[in-house]
Amino acid sequence: MTSVITTDSRFELLEGETLLEGLERTSHEVEYQCRAGYCGSCRTHLVNGSVRYLSEPLAYIAKDEILPCCCVPDGPVQIEACLMHEPEQPLLGEEFNIQTSLDFGTDGRK
Ligand code: FES
Repeated sequence: MTSVITTDSRFELLEGETLLEGLERTSHEVEYQCRAGYCGSCRTHLVNGSVRYLSEPLAYIAKDEILPCCCVPDGPVQIEACLMHEPEQPLLGEEFNIQTSLDFGTDGRK
């Protein structure tokens, strides 16, 4: 297993997993389309370490970028990837201002 440090987390890549699969399993926000190194959608900044490509990628990448869909780390790596954030949900009862009694006014009529 290989350690992967991301922008706000750390996890171990499982045997046979690509870096993209590991990022998905650990709830990181990742873009992808082809999952095969063609489109470049998964392009990610590599901060430290190095990766090995399972097949030669065709998408253009800068010197400090990697394509997680088709690579595995050579050793511990650090990349820029953030965890997905759940949309904030109101606590039960805060969602609606529930009125528990009815007010018919105070003009004396019943
Ligand atoms: S998803 Fe297309 S290059 Fe990675």
